Amino acid sequence: MATKNPTNLKESSTSGPTTKSTKATKPAVPKATKKNYIRVGVAIVAITVALTQNFFRTASTDLGLFLGDIQPFNTAGCEVVPGGLEACEDIHLHRESGLAFMTCGHAEARKDWFPPMAKLNASADDIAFQDKFVIYNVATGKYEEMELAGLPKGTDRVFHGLGIHERSPTELTIFAVNHRRGGSVIEVLEYTIGDKVVQYKETIRHELIHTPNDILATGPRSFYVTNDHKYKSGANREFEELLRRPLSNVIYYSPESTHIAYDHVASANGITSNSDQSLIYLSACHGAGLHILRATPDHTLVDQEYIKLDFYNDNPSYDPDTDSVFVTGHVKPLTLTMGLKKKGVQLNGPSKIVKISKDVVSGGHKVETVLEDDGGLISTGTVSAVDRKRGVMLIGTAFSNRGVVRCPIPQGA
Ligand SMILES: *[C@@H]1O[C@H](CO)[C@@H](O)[C@H](O)[C@H]1NC(C)=O
Ligand SMILES: *[C@@H]1O[C@H](CO)[C@@H](O)[C@H](O)[C@H]1NC(C)=O
Repeated sequence: MATKNPTNLKESSTSGPTTKSTKATKPAVPKATKKNYIRVGVAIVAITVALTQNFFRTASTDLGLFLGDIQPFNTAGCEVVPGGLEACEDIHLHRESGLAFMTCGHAEARKDWFPPMAKLNASADDIAFQDKFVIYNVATGKYEEMELAGLPKGTDRVFHGLGIHERSPTELTIFAVNHRRGGSVIEVLEYTIGDKVVQYKETIRHELIHTPNDILATGPRSFYVTNDHKYKSGANREFEELLRRPLSNVIYYSPESTHIAYDHVASANGITSNSDQSLIYLSACHGAGLHILRATPDHTLVDQEYIKLDFYNDNPSYDPDTDSVFVTGHVKPLTLTMGLKKKGVQLNGPSKIVKISKDVVSGGHKVETVLEDDGGLISTGTVSAVDRKRGVMLIGTAFSNRGVVRCPIPQGA
């Protein structure tokens, strides 16, 4: 998810606590005046663009401006996973074992450091850089915080999207986006079902991977990764946000070849695929839409279909049992953005989950709302995963101290 209104413009993403004040002084133009120029400039461009494209409709949709109050729908039986998990953005279900892999952080600390939301306060409290890697057992309802064996001590851990490749039915390679203060990277981890620890293998950095968000694993060292923005901070970032510019992309990474696989996306976010990876589902949250793409043998992605949604959609997850995609997202992102500015206040972000499945009649896709909440229980929902064998839907939330919510599979889902 991306910020509507980045606040920490003065800080660069790489600056540590000690380098903060070194570049603010330029005598020629008074600071306030310069800021005003930028504001007026942004406003003029915004108005121009707004007049020339179908901007307001999309913007009002993804800001959730005219949607009224959200009533809880299909939330009976939902409960927060006990134990104090917070800010668990992404959930990956390994259906054979009934284990859910997730990373959880500290909801309050995300208000200081979370580059995807342009929160770039590198002197945030230590807890901001100490996310947990969690394995949740759907059958027992218990979770364990896993040691990442081999990850150098003191390494920042600010986890985001996860991608999992099955080397065998029990041997998994896990790719985890990590927004370290020194730059965002992909951590490669390995886990064998039943083990007590997760093994850290290596860190992948690449210049094309600059604002990583989510990962679709394709092999033991290859994956697609979304960049959710072109710009990390500053006025350019504000333009990009404000104007919903389709400037982000999807990168294909492998040790042999790394390239742009798909370009010009309005904030590429969650990415997933069907079982044989012939179809790729990509959330464009500034476009309030879901791209359905086809993968070519040379690892580029081509358009198959584009499904317009009526909310700020985050991560899609694929349900092999029904060949459908569940998309979770924010109904009132503006509430979310404003909430992120208020420290010490629990954020209630209304959330919704839709199911997208093939419509036999029209040959296209149909979109059905399967669950909605006003934020009182499920706040800032970002992903949902369905375990049909155990009759459970898990819902992850990005900025809530009710990190994971466990629900019966909603009616109609
Ligand atoms: C950065 O975070 C620290 C720790 O929470 C806080 O004291 C400081 O005020 C923050 N700086 C900004 C610019 O928000
Ligand atoms: C999922 O949703 C979160 C929260 O909005 C968003 O920041 C992120 O981009 C999405 N992707 C993953 C993998 O979490």
